Amino acid sequence: MKSIVTGGAGFIGSHLVDRLIDEGDEVLVIDDLSSGKEANLADGVRLEELSITDERVAAVVAEFAPDRVFHAAAQISVSVSAREPVTDAKTNILGTLNVLDAVRNAPGEPARFTFVSTGGAMYGEPDTLPAPESLPADPGSPYGASKRAIEVYLPVYERLFGIRHTTLRLANVFGPRQDPHGEAGVVAIFSRAMLAGGELTIFGDGKDERDYVYVGDVVDALVRSAESGGVGPYNVGTGTGTNVNDLFGYLAELCEYTRPANYGPPRAGDIGKISLDSSAIRRDLGWEPQTKLIDGLATTVAWFRDNPG
Ligand SMILES: NC(=O)c1ccc[n+]([C@@H]2O[C@H](COP(=O)([O-])OP(=O)(O)OC[C@H]3O[C@@H](n4cnc5c(N)ncnc54)[C@H](O)[C@@H]3O)[C@@H](O)[C@H]2O)c1
Repeated sequence: MKSIVTGGAGFIGSHLVDRLIDEGDEVLVIDDLSSGKEANLADGVRLEELSITDERVAAVVAEFAPDRVFHAAAQISVSVSAREPVTDAKTNILGTLNVLDAVRNAPGEPARFTFVSTGGAMYGEPDTLPAPESLPADPGSPYGASKRAIEVYLPVYERLFGIRHTTLRLANVFGPRQDPHGEAGVVAIFSRAMLAGGELTIFGDGKDERDYVYVGDVVDALVRSAESGGVGPYNVGTGTGTNVNDLFGYLAELCEYTRPANYGPPRAGDIGKISLDSSAIRRDLGWEPQTKLIDGLATTVAWFRDNPG
């Protein structure tokens, strides 16, 4: 199989690239390295350092002639999207359409397209938890809205241009290589700060709940998506919410961190509780999260211990 991974030098994308290489795929990464790193890629993986918004994407895709495209490149920050919705839309809507057009205009049968969407930012603050896909989309940010926009485009591209697709709505993904310097990715931020012995601030009262899913399990869902006829959107989460205070406690123990957390005001736009009902992907693609939260956290902390930075 020939696979393109956009955003393949990033956190989730690079784990997917590792898995595809292990399975014998020929892989091409398209990434502008705005947050991804070449060091995340195994030796010999072909990288086109290019924005997904660049018109040269069409020639790159046509020349490589992929069987499948995993689209993970994105502007990933909810707060950047709230400050600069146009910046977010240029990458997440126009950039994605640019990749889709490259796929439809490439010679031969169009590549199968897997879209990495969001579950955490798709349902607003739902009354039903864990949230099933049948709840109406109600994004609370331009980031969620841009992901939703592509979900709406995809069936249109399938009907008009024959691009078969699957959409995965990911919960809060964590694991090795996640950027600990951003404003999201609490496991990475806490792990790095705790191992460095620094101060830590929890925004709000720490009772906010998120559904933390391990990156290895997400990669498994991505691979299954490309091998299936399922369209989705499929939630990819554990169905269990964990609050920030508990997460802090688990990580403190693993990092042997003894200082108490500081508490700051809640951040604008942060939602209270979210967890995702993933029974649809379990039923259709046989996907099941395999990694217990505490085991995934231990692996992640061990990685940050070996890779301080
Ligand atoms: N991490 C999570 O919890 C989570 C949850 C839901 C959805 N997602 C989605 O998963 C995908 C991967 O996110 P991640 O957490 O690995 O973040 P990441 O920042 O590590 O990965 C994004 C990658 O895309 C690249 N990129 C950004 N803009 C680009 C552009 N214009 N052209 C080419 N490459 C570009 C970055 O350099 C980076 O390598 C994103 O689509 C994100 O929205 C992530």
